This record gives sequence, C-alpha cells and structure tokens, in this order.
Amino acid sequence: EGSGHPIWVSQIPVPWSPEMLKGKRVIVTGASTGIGEEMAYHLARMGSHILITARTESKLQKVVERCRELGAASAQYISGTMEDMAFAEHVVKEAQTSLGGLDMLILNHVGTSYFGYFDGDVGHVRKLLEINFLSYVAMTVSALPMLKESEGSIVVVSSMAGKVGFPFTVPYSATKFALDGFFSSLRQEFHIQNINVSITLCILGFIDTDRALRAAADVLLVPPAPRAECALEILKGGALRRRELYYRYGSTRLPLLLRDCAAELLDRLVRSRYRLDRIGTGQRRHPPAPPDRR
Ligand SMILES: NC(=O)c1ccc[n+]([C@@H]2O[C@H](COP(=O)([O-])OP(=O)(O)OC[C@H]3O[C@@H](n4cnc5c(N)ncnc54)[C@H](OP(=O)(O)O)[C@@H]3O)[C@@H](O)[C@H]2O)c1
Ligand SMILES: *[C@@H]1O[C@H](CO)[C@@H](O)[C@H](O)[C@H]1NC(C)=O
Repeated sequence: EGSGHPIWVSQIPVPWSPEMLKGKRVIVTGASTGIGEEMAYHLARMGSHILITARTESKLQKVVERCRELGAASAQYISGTMEDMAFAEHVVKEAQTSLGGLDMLILNHVGTSYFGYFDGDVGHVRKLLEINFLSYVAMTVSALPMLKESEGSIVVVSSMAGKVGFPFTVPYSATKFALDGFFSSLRQEFHIQNINVSITLCILGFIDTDRALRAAADVLLVPPAPRAECALEILKGGALRRRELYYRYGSTRLPLLLRDCAAELLDRLVRSRYRLDRIGTGQRRHPPAPPDRR
C-alpha cells in the first residue's frame, strides 16, 4: 500500500451513516423501476446529486420528480438504451458536464431475457452480454478519470446467479459471471496501481421487484426480500467501500460457502428451490418491451 498507513488501518470497520452520501454525485442505471428506483429515492433522502437512466422516459420523469420532493440536492435523467455503447458513454459525459464530476457509479440495469430452459438463441446471449456486461465496461472506462479524481466508487449489481450456476436463466447468469471476472480483476489492478476507486460487487438473492415476481414468483420456493431494504444495503455497501455485498446474507453468503467444498451439494440446493413441474420449455415469460420506449 502506498498510502503510508499500515495495512490494518484500512481494515477497521467504519460505521455507516447516511451523511456519507450527502452532496455526492451519483449515477444510477436502470432506475426507472425496481431496485434502481428505490436506490434513487434513498439517495434523494440523503441529499445526493442524482443522475438516473433507463429507456422509459415517462417513468424516469416521475422518479426524478419524486427525488426532488424527497430532498435530492439535484435530480435529472437521460433516457436511452444500454444496447448502444455510445449512449452508455454519453450518460457518463453528462455527469461531467452537469455535475462537474462523479463520486459513485451504480451499475444496475439488466436487459429483458426469458425464464425457462436455454433455447439455443446465440444472438440473444450476445445482445444480453452487450446490455448487462459491455455497457458496464464502457461506462466504467468513461467514468474512471472522474472517479480517480474523487476517490469514488463503482457499485456493480449482480446476483447469486453470477456466483453459482442457475437453471432457467442461462444467458442472464452468464452475463453476471462476466461482471465478476471483469470487476474482480480490475480491483486487483487498482490495488497494484494504488488507484483508490472502490469496487463493490453486490450478490443479491430473490428480490420483490415487479420484473422478478412476474418471472419467478410462481416457480421459486423462496420468499422474495423487500426491494427498498435491498436498495439501502447496496448503497451502504458502496459507501463503506466493501468488496462484496450479500443480500440477504443468509440466503446468499451462507449457501455460497459450500461452493468450494461441496459444489454438488450447492447445485442440488439451488435446484431444490424451483417447482420444476411449472417450468415450460423455451417459454418466454418476459413480454417484449412496450412500444412507448426509445
Ligand atoms: N429482482 C431480483 O430478484 C434480482 C435478483 C438478483 C439480482 N438482481 C439484479 O438487480 C438489478 C435490478 O433488478 P430489478 O429486479 O430491479 O430489475 P427491473 O425492475 O426490471 O429494472 C431493470 C431496469 O433496467 C432498465 N433497462 C432494461 N433494459 C434496458 C436497456 N436495454 N437499456 C437501458 N436500461 C434498461 C429498466 O428500465 P426500462 O425498461 O425503462 O429501460 C429498469 O429500470 C439487476 O442488475 C438484476 O440483475 C435482481
Ligand atoms: C481512499 O479514498 C477514501 C474516500 O475518499 C478515503 O477515505 C481513504 O482514506 C482513501 N484511502 C487511501 C489509501 O488513500
């Protein structure tokens, strides 16, 4: 460590305080609904400057309005699709021009996929990798100069499905594993180069967002955890510069302890959480996006 502090100093846990995010400039992607929307509201209450993005402009408008009511230092949105890397970079540039920098980049959006057996559609895997993975890379690259300057943080929202094989979400799971590979390796290089930008990988279990409930509520035997609490835990993990964040701990971190010593057992545990009789073959449970987006 080049900081001059003995290594143990950085190991002393800092207590969480909402003040940590007050006045901070934060981008949240995928913030028109779900966990991203809840993160925007928490940040608003903490008095952050918020820049949110997703495709659906009408929803973003409402979220921004509510953020202003809740006390955001400032709130704005940009709508567009993360299939387009130029758009991903454009969002980051907007933070530079309108906020003068960036303290936290929260990468949270996910493209629409299907719930069911892998259907062999390679084109879909490629498209999902672009949305769920490559756009995260593109935004990180663009944001790095600002994050170095602010000694800021990158928060990457992943899933249990990004740490252990999950049936019925094969393409999605692949994109989440890719995030672990990229960001865990990048964290190593940051350490070596004394780049003080934290990377927090969030490993989430089943959360009660509309999308997840629609896709899996009738086939998963586990109860979903509340999205607002999930959103707050992610923000705490990012502000405390944690390496990884597990929510809920008991249904994510604990089972994953089996991964290296009893992989077969963990695989079986994962499979046992589904009502297999309710899985269709190649069934598209996610309808295509409504035409109201651009
Ligand atoms: N809910 C769960 O059970 C669960 C479990 C594990 C991990 N996670 C992770 O948590 C994060 C949030 O999930 P969520 O359940 O809150 O999802 P969600 O409610 O479906 O939100 C997804 C967000 O991404 C946006 N989005 C979708 N396609 C996009 C595109 N092509 N370009 C730009 N934005 C796009 C959506 O807005 P538009 O449609 O307006 O673009 C929306 O704001 C994801 O990374 C997910 O993998 C969730
Ligand atoms: C890294 O940045 C954080 C946030 O600015 C700061 O609290 C911490 O002391 C820095 N660590 C080093 C080693 O400079």
